[in-house]
Amino acid sequence: MTKEELVQNIKLLKKEKNAIILAHYYQEPEIQDIADFVGDSLALAQWAAKTSADIIVLCGVHFMGETAKILSPEKRVFIPDLNAGCSLAESCPAGPFEEFVNAHPDHTVISYVNTTAAVKALTDIVVTSTNARQIVESLPEDEKIIFGPDKNLGDYINKLTGRNMLLWDGVCHVHAQFSLERILELKKEYPNALLLAHPECPKYLLEIADHVGSTSSILKFATNSENKQFIVATEAGILHQMQKENPEKEFIPAPPEDSTCACNECFYMKMNTLEKLYLCLKNEKPEIVVDEEVRVKAVKPIERMLEISA
Ligand code: 13P
Ligand code: SF4
Repeated sequence: MTKEELVQNIKLLKKEKNAIILAHYYQEPEIQDIADFVGDSLALAQWAAKTSADIIVLCGVHFMGETAKILSPEKRVFIPDLNAGCSLAESCPAGPFEEFVNAHPDHTVISYVNTTAAVKALTDIVVTSTNARQIVESLPEDEKIIFGPDKNLGDYINKLTGRNMLLWDGVCHVHAQFSLERILELKKEYPNALLLAHPECPKYLLEIADHVGSTSSILKFATNSENKQFIVATEAGILHQMQKENPEKEFIPAPPEDSTCACNECFYMKMNTLEKLYLCLKNEKPEIVVDEEVRVKAVKPIERMLEISA
């Protein structure tokens, strides 16, 4: 099937099955362009909670599909490739995380949304990079907190809020590998460019960034800024929306340590293709399934997040 035929068939199937396609900013441009909604992980969860569609196709990674299913158990949730995981979610298996939580019984447990349903079930409040600061600041100043799994985000929030949260030692394979040296060279080459960084990046990048924020925050900053050039230190898929919203501006993807690989792309996110999206709608698989006992526990900290960030 040609790309045009795939697009046409996806549109027909979507209508026929009362399905909605939600896509993250890191998806391939052609998937972003066919989605009903493109957003960051918070916005995707908010859409999943309120949609009246019967079927949600979540073009993102597994934890995003799981979050949609946890919030909308009556709907069927599919993702184009069930193997689309996340290095952060994988860095935090439920067993060891439970031991960590049990070793600190007087701590409130905050988990980044990039976690499995089983880890969310051990959590008091879920956060995304959009609302992590707001949620931590909503807790009393002397509250003891565990934060997992992203240590860079946790460290950044500790710095912003003056807290001393206990951090799980996890990182994202994309954000952990940007090269400081090569970014400094780029800054010399483009002296007027502003550096935009996702808080999953290491401290040495966040310290020199002109703006630190979630994917939606980076996009908004670039759109509202009078500046014309930006170096973007997050997964390169975001450049599609940045360029679409700002055709007159220049966006330069931050380079990885290893100049021979496309490491500034998330290989999990890129497992989803237009063809897999078509097959997923046609065959109604692969489907996201969440154990009901786990779901009932995991929904509480997600709903708490949605209430605080409403
Ligand atoms: P956002 O919440 O900023 O969309 O980030 C999700 C993510 O996976 C970042 O790597
Ligand atoms: Fe996970 Fe990193 Fe991919 Fe985001 S970019 S989904 S944190 S592996």
